[in-house]
Order: sequence, then structure tokens, then C-alpha cells
Amino acid sequence: MAGKFSFVSVMGALLVLTIFHDPIIVNAGQGVPNVALFTFGDSYYDVGNKAFLTKKLPPQTLWPYGKSRDDPNGKFSDGYIVPDFIAEFMSIPNGIPPALKPGANFSRGASFAVADASILGAPAESMTLTQQVNKFRSMISTWSDDYIEQSLFMIYIGTEDYLNFIKANPTADGSAQQAFVTSVTNKLKTDINLLYSLGASKFAVPTLAPLGCLPIVRQEYKTGNDCYEPLNNLAKQHNEKIGPMLNEFAKKPNGGFQFTVLDFYNAVLRRTIRHTAFRFYVTNTSCCGVGTHNAYGCGMANVHSKLCEYQRSYFFFDGRHNTEKAQEEIAHIFYGANTNVVQPMTIRELIVYPAKENMLEFWEPNNLSTRRRRSSRDNLDLSAYY
Ligand SMILES: *[C@@H]1O[C@H](CO)[C@@H](O)[C@H](O)[C@H]1NC(C)=O
Ligand SMILES: *[C@@H]1O[C@H](CO)[C@@H](O)[C@H](O)[C@H]1NC(C)=O
Ligand SMILES: *[C@@H]1O[C@H](CO)[C@@H](O)[C@H](O)[C@H]1NC(C)=O
Repeated sequence: MAGKFSFVSVMGALLVLTIFHDPIIVNAGQGVPNVALFTFGDSYYDVGNKAFLTKKLPPQTLWPYGKSRDDPNGKFSDGYIVPDFIAEFMSIPNGIPPALKPGANFSRGASFAVADASILGAPAESMTLTQQVNKFRSMISTWSDDYIEQSLFMIYIGTEDYLNFIKANPTADGSAQQAFVTSVTNKLKTDINLLYSLGASKFAVPTLAPLGCLPIVRQEYKTGNDCYEPLNNLAKQHNEKIGPMLNEFAKKPNGGFQFTVLDFYNAVLRRTIRHTAFRFYVTNTSCCGVGTHNAYGCGMANVHSKLCEYQRSYFFFDGRHNTEKAQEEIAHIFYGANTNVVQPMTIRELIVYPAKENMLEFWEPNNLSTRRRRSSRDNLDLSAYY
């Protein structure tokens, strides 16, 4: 069953790829069940929870956030964010609501993500991942066990942990870094295990972005046109642990744990380095903000932010978050690109994979750069679809 689905989608993707060079629309289409989407993490997936945890109006509820939709809606983007597009592909009308919103309709899922969330520590006016999972636990009777088991759980978190670590320990040596990464990823593992014990069984986990390339980081660490490598190194060390950790869960006999890892790190890096190939004209500074990289203060009342004229030519909307155009492209590749970007399967395949069954394929270390150089045919096939 699963094999048949992946064969069909691979053939479909190849067919389309030979015709188009741009990321293309992949419809949820036939056979995608009406399940729920649950998201956990930080500002990348927050759809408005932050406003319920702070007395002031947070910047993301103010202009120019939401500019492309004419609607500041609590999301860190000029419009939609990745989970909005994934929800759309899953035929979920109007995206998923913030879990903290009283009386919202949670029938197709909820977002538990909050801006400033971290894995470790006690973030101010925010929640740790553990607290988010406990919030899910407190609402669990909203959904049936079967429905939870068939639904998709997306988790993106860790940026806050590493930004804080580097700020507090600018001279941390290799072994101190390694120890910190291990404490972060061990806690992440505990939180995922908690979700799993509550009945979640389908997980989609992006790797962390190259944090040293965020415009706010380039600006704060004054790296000019370069990325700040200590943060990229921490992200890389973190990312290397994700696939093996999830493999371990999925290899438990009769466990039914299913997952996919989205190689967000390299998807962002490719767009940062070869930006014109992906039709982004500016990737080293933000559309909205102030400073050398226009990276600070977007949406803040006391900051006179500059706003770019055309946000769709930018990869970053503010110092840390992507434009809607970038978010849409990323959502498309997670939902339907090949194993260089998302493995062991696409999000679409993960949703239709029969619940309770163990996966037949697992995550493997990816050697995209070496593989790509080896064959020009690869170049042709993959083109801009990653
Ligand atoms: C909640 O949303 C679903 C569709 O997502 C709809 O079928 C249902 O009627 C809604 N419930 C209420 C109480 O509005
Ligand atoms: C961003 O990159 C462009 C070249 O694409 C360069 O001219 C510009 O100086 C860079 N900006 C910063 C702040 O480094
Ligand atoms: C990919 O890289 C890993 C680790 O660097 C290596 O062990 C493996 O042999 C490589 N695989 C291929 C197909 O090159």
C-alpha cells in the first residue's frame, strides 16, 4: 500500500520535474485523509499564542507583519507561515488555531508553538516544549485516540536555546558545545517520547536553520556578508542527532512510530548562497527592520523600521523569519520533494502511511553535495526542486 503510494508520487514528481523548473503546487489530492495538524515549537510555528502570554501587544500582531495578507495575525511573516501551507495541502480550512485561544475550533488540530519558546530553561512570557506538550495533554479529550494516531505532529524548536547559549558563553570550547547540544537533544527526545506516549505517532521534524546566517545574527555579531560560524556549527551538531534519534524510536518493534526529517538547514543554506537560482534577490538582509542588515525591531512601536518595497524578492522578512514566499516554497519541498530534502518520506507520504505500522525505511546521512557533483543527470532531474 505504502509502496504503491510512494511509487506513484515519485513518478508524478519526476514527470512534473521534467517539465517545470520551479517549485510546483502539490495538491493534497485524492487519498489524503482528513486528519489534524498539531504544531509545537517557537515563533516559526506560532500562529498567535504569544498574544495570550504577554500583556503588551507583541510585534507580530502589528503592521507590517501580515502585510501581504493585509492582516497582522500573530505570525512572524508578511503573510502565511509553513504550517499554514501544510494545512492547506491537508485540506484544513483556514489553517489551525492557536491552542491558547479560548473557544477556538480545534477539530483539525492546533498550534502549541509560542514565540521565544525553548527546549531548556524557563523562557519569559513563553513556554518550553515540555509545557507545550503538557498543554496538549490537558486538551487531549478533544480528539479521539485513533484520530491523534493518524494526525501529523510538526516540531520546530531549538533556535532560542542556541542563541542564548552563544550569547552567555561566547568562548565555549568544543566539548562545552557538545555537552550543551547533548542536553538540548536529550530533552527534545524526552518531549517527543512524551507526545508518543500520549498517542502521537506521525512526526515531521525539520532540522534547524543555519542560525549563523540569520540577518539578526549577522548584524549582532557584525559579520558583514558572512554567516556567524559558531552558531552554524551548533545547529549542525544539533541536526546530526535528529535523524538517528528518530530512527531509534521508529525501530522499536511494533511501535508504530513514523517520522520524516526535513533538511531545513541545507534548504535555507542553498537559498542563501545561490539566491538568484531560487529567485530571491536579497538573502543577507531583512525586508523589515533597522541596522546594518535591517534586522532589528520590525513591528516594534518605538523603532522606526525600514520596510522593503517588494517583500517577495527577500528571503527574510524580519531579522529571523522568512517571507511568505520563502515559507511557501519551503512548505512545498517538505510536502513533496525528493529524499535529498525530506526523508525517509515526504510529509504527504507520512500522512497516508498506514497507522500502527512500522516504517520500512529509515533516515540516512545525506551526501547531497557529493552526490550532485557526480552526475549531470541528477542536476537535470533535481533542478530547483530542493
Ligand atoms: C469546526 O470545523 C470543522 C471543519 O474544520 C467543521 O466541520 C465544524 O462544523 C466546526 N465546528 C463548529 C462548532 O463550528
Ligand atoms: C548583501 O549581499 C550583497 C550582494 O548580493 C552585497 O552587495 C551587500 O553588501 C551585502 N550586504 C551586507 C549587509 O553585507
Ligand atoms: C555519506 O557520508 C557518510 C558519512 O560521512 C559516509 O559514511 C557514507 O559512506 C557516505 N555515503 C555515500 C553514498 O557517499
